[in-house]
Amino acid sequence: MDILIPENIIKGTFSVKKKDSKYEKAHLKLIEINGVNKYQISLYTETQVFHNNYDVDNINLVIIDLLETYFNNLELFTPTNVYGYRISSKGKLLTNKRNNNTDFVITAQNKEKNRLLKEGEVIPALVDLGIMNNEGKVLKAGYDKYRQINRFIEIINDSIKDEKYLKIIDFGCGKSYLTFILYHYLVNVKKISCDIIGLDLKSDVIDNCNKLASKYKYDHLKFLKGNIQDFKDEKVDIIVTLHACDTATDYALYHAINMKCRYIFSVPCCQHEINNELDSRSFHLITKYGILKERFSSLLTDSIRANILEYYGYKTQVMEFVDFDNSPKNLLIRAQLTNNKNTKIKEELDALLNEYHINQKLYDLLFK
Ligand SMILES: C[S@@+](CC[C@H](N)C(=O)[O-])C[C@H]1O[C@@H](n2cnc3c(N)ncnc32)[C@H](O)[C@@H]1O
Repeated sequence: MDILIPENIIKGTFSVKKKDSKYEKAHLKLIEINGVNKYQISLYTETQVFHNNYDVDNINLVIIDLLETYFNNLELFTPTNVYGYRISSKGKLLTNKRNNNTDFVITAQNKEKNRLLKEGEVIPALVDLGIMNNEGKVLKAGYDKYRQINRFIEIINDSIKDEKYLKIIDFGCGKSYLTFILYHYLVNVKKISCDIIGLDLKSDVIDNCNKLASKYKYDHLKFLKGNIQDFKDEKVDIIVTLHACDTATDYALYHAINMKCRYIFSVPCCQHEINNELDSRSFHLITKYGILKERFSSLLTDSIRANILEYYGYKTQVMEFVDFDNSPKNLLIRAQLTNNKNTKIKEELDALLNEYHINQKLYDLLFK
């Protein structure tokens, strides 16, 4: 049977046993034994359970074998998607895929084990940037950022398909931890031909990043000093932003939409614009508490952004990409261009902005 198994599986469930199957159900999970990732499969009979451990590299064959021999249903979970498989009564394989919206229930322990780049893997530029030491051990001060960028590439990896070439821009790249790990993972590990650009206002960080890129002969990684607002649109496949301040995220999304960028991965930050405008007379019960006003403004801002992306034909998801204790700015907007425009949404967007007496930068850039 021709079964496509996703990478990066966290767990899975086999159910609906075949006629004469000796097993009632089975569970699959990622575990760690002596520092090495393994998959454990637990097979349940009516009275007993049998646990077997498998090398990560062999798991696809084991999964396919179990599905062909004992079960008709299978669900496999990756950090971002759930893949469903069902063998019909006529023996036909039916598949589906949906978003994994239960990300927050995946334990930190599992996320740790599931990282694409394991601690101990030296990424030279990240040594220079103070995230890890020469042995690849992540330093305490760099730990939160390392988790964020590692998770970011997991999500990108889960979204992109067999890509031969990618042009990527990191808007508001700052010290460029994300830009360097992206380059390392896509070019050195996945062997995808890429051109990656980091753009930031600050000339000192841009100079330093360009020095690091040439020191490590990252020939297709360039850093440009500039304002996102003034960026000249070109053909770009992916844009990423990680904590680009306030309306910098809006300018980045604006360019992404104009460039018909295929993928957008954007973690917004400090949504001051609406926080400064929100009409406190109408929503006094919320806005009289500073922290609630701030959070409410952030949610409003990101709702408007996500819906505008849908308007322009992006299949859009808003997800928690790291735990709140890693960063309270932990929402990631993931969008993929499908050209299936949802223009009806405009009326509701207008109503939302009127309701709260607010302006929103991305809306203004595109609709005014
Ligand atoms: C909070 S830092 C995040 C840096 C980096 N992405 C990270 O996650 O470490 C935000 C960065 O966005 C840059 N930035 C803010 N507004 C910008 C704009 N309009 N154009 C270019 N860069 C901008 C800032 O200079 C700063 O380096």
